Amino acid sequence: MNKTNQSWGGRFNQPTDEFVKIFGASVFFDKILAPYDIQGSIAHATMLQEVGLLTEDEKSQIIDGLNTILTEIKKDKFDWSVDLEDVHMNIEARLVAMIGNAGKKLHTGRSRNDQVATDIRLYLREQLDEINDEIKRLQVALLNLAEQEASTILPGFTHLQAAQPVSFGHHMMAYFEMLSRDAERLIDCRKRLNSMPLGSAALAGTTYPIKRARTAELLGFERICNNSLDGVSDRDFAIEFLSAASIVMMHLSRFSEELILWSSAQFDFIELPDSFCTGSSIMPQKKNPDVPELVRGKTGRVYGNLTAMLTIMKSQPLAYNKDNQEDKEPLFDTVDTLKTCLRVFADMVPTIKAKRDNMYNSTKKGYTTATDLADYLVKKGLPFRDAHEVVGLSVAYGLKIQKDLSELNLKELQGFDARIENDVFDMLSLEGSLCARDHLGGTAPNQVKQAIKTARNNLK
Ligand code: ARG
Repeated sequence: MNKTNQSWGGRFNQPTDEFVKIFGASVFFDKILAPYDIQGSIAHATMLQEVGLLTEDEKSQIIDGLNTILTEIKKDKFDWSVDLEDVHMNIEARLVAMIGNAGKKLHTGRSRNDQVATDIRLYLREQLDEINDEIKRLQVALLNLAEQEASTILPGFTHLQAAQPVSFGHHMMAYFEMLSRDAERLIDCRKRLNSMPLGSAALAGTTYPIKRARTAELLGFERICNNSLDGVSDRDFAIEFLSAASIVMMHLSRFSEELILWSSAQFDFIELPDSFCTGSSIMPQKKNPDVPELVRGKTGRVYGNLTAMLTIMKSQPLAYNKDNQEDKEPLFDTVDTLKTCLRVFADMVPTIKAKRDNMYNSTKKGYTTATDLADYLVKKGLPFRDAHEVVGLSVAYGLKIQKDLSELNLKELQGFDARIENDVFDMLSLEGSLCARDHLGGTAPNQVKQAIKTARNNLK
């Protein structure tokens, strides 16, 4: 017998081509699954002993051996070998080298197919918890900034044209809301992935009297995959995660875009600290908002990873195919990217300095209280369409003489509609406009403060 590989070489006569070995190996990137692989193996061995497939002594040797291997890996003392293809066979081979025969029994009643499907679920479950902690940290930072700036006025835009005055705190709370839904999506994804494939074995289940419920209990899985073919082969949970991650990144990217615009000399609404910016090697005046730019840029790779995973899965017949090995890099890359982007945002948001005067003065440009004047006329009895027309004419007049509506005098305003009285100026001021939107979800500062209070309670 030509033993080309100690795990599966029995029926082979030729050794694997050297380059094919490297081409097919996943150990370069799947070694980060090692702690989860070991966790899964310890649970599996515990169950095997309980059903009589391992002796107490064999189980102890296996568990001690796996714990030693985990320590070696953590201390970077583990000798990873490409000859052993992946994380699973590297660990198993080391175990056998350490403890001999007992080690060879660990793989009883399982396959690398259900093993890897379990590992990535354990991995992602833990990562999801860390990601949600980072989202929460960012949300707290947003709440603090929103609280501080609840009465700060900046122009709200539609079509990137000045539309109506809004509270900067209200603007920050919009991102808080997006992140709340993002967290919900991830929690939802966690619920569905928390199902254990182990026991599916290669594809059809196993002939051994295993107790799947026990292994699931040991690993903290809420359920067991109902169908072995499905358990080993689907990666829909990863696709769900990548979709939810893409949405988080889309939100962070929109936020980034605003921070980039706002920190330009043209907007000049905020200042990011030097510690979050870089300079230019040629233009001495520059201070570049690298952090939000990078986050905006990294959104592309997260979207790409989602597309990659969907495409990897789309034509695979049941059950496991080697294609599935390609699931890991998009998944790991997305987890890392998401974690680092959330982390850097949670660190950066508390450092954002609102340039209140600039925001205020900018809001004065662009006739942002025109809607308020229309609403005022409606309250005086004019149908809204007619009021819209009247205000349109007064804006055209203001543009001609280069004055804001609030800078026109009463006589000028009355020239457009005789119903206009002195109280109109309460409406035309930015503060008046802001405070008038005084309902749940509106931008009036007291509503914003209420929203922050509610949000803080919900976050606990
Ligand atoms: N490295 C493999 C992967 O990541 C493990 C499963 C291999 N299974 C097999 N039948 N070749 O998918």
